[in-house]
Amino acid sequence: MLDASSDPVHFPHMPSAARKLNEQTFIWFGGDMFQPTPEGALWWQAQKTLIVSDLHLEKGSSYARRGQLLPPYDTGATLALVERLAGQFAPDRIISLGDSFHDALSEERLAETDIARIRELTGSCDWFWVEGNHDPEPPAHLGGRGVTTLRVGDCVFRHEPTGARGEISGHLHPVARIGGRGRSVRRKCFVTDGHQMIMPSLGTLTGGLNVLDDAVTSCFAEFPSIFVTGGRNVYLADARTLKSDVSDRGSNSGWRL
Ligand SMILES: [Fe+2]
Repeated sequence: MLDASSDPVHFPHMPSAARKLNEQTFIWFGGDMFQPTPEGALWWQAQKTLIVSDLHLEKGSSYARRGQLLPPYDTGATLALVERLAGQFAPDRIISLGDSFHDALSEERLAETDIARIRELTGSCDWFWVEGNHDPEPPAHLGGRGVTTLRVGDCVFRHEPTGARGEISGHLHPVARIGGRGRSVRRKCFVTDGHQMIMPSLGTLTGGLNVLDDAVTSCFAEFPSIFVTGGRNVYLADARTLKSDVSDRGSNSGWRL
């Protein structure tokens, strides 16, 4: 069961840190309010900054090269999400938090139309490509700036979580499985203890790692708060309703991030 009340929600690590205001959930982090979006992006109003993570552009064509044919629409669909968010928030800065491209040759496989769309995005604001494990080399001809890490205000943006205070990272593609009444739903989610935050993947063809997996929980000293993406909003999950994926798959391990 998800908490969707209009009152401040219970948030064990940060009293009054998360609440629903005007039907929108906010997360208090690093001294500012952040707005998580149902798509899996994060809007930092105080810095006019939009953060997206793990786009994995050209993942479909990467699999196709190896003989596993997937519909080749993932890049266009993911870019459409970023374009919609950029239109909604009109950011001064966009941070793509690593694994923006699925592999080193993704840039070469991009369709001309998608290249133009990326250049339009990177030219519309101050765009940063944070290095990821899938894309350690920033794209050379698509605009924007490549960085290993990026510090803005009291926050540091890095692809892989290290536990540093004020760190916002991605990499783990966290998803929450919420159970109730004999059924469950599995949704992308934000994970935070107020000191660090792990963002979900925004890519439309990416899988995810259950937040109950040790790879996620070991990043935090205490069990973190889980903000789950829904159809039109983001909700603080009741930790008692979180389910593991182990019973379905035998193990949570083996997911390549
Ligand atoms: Fe990734």
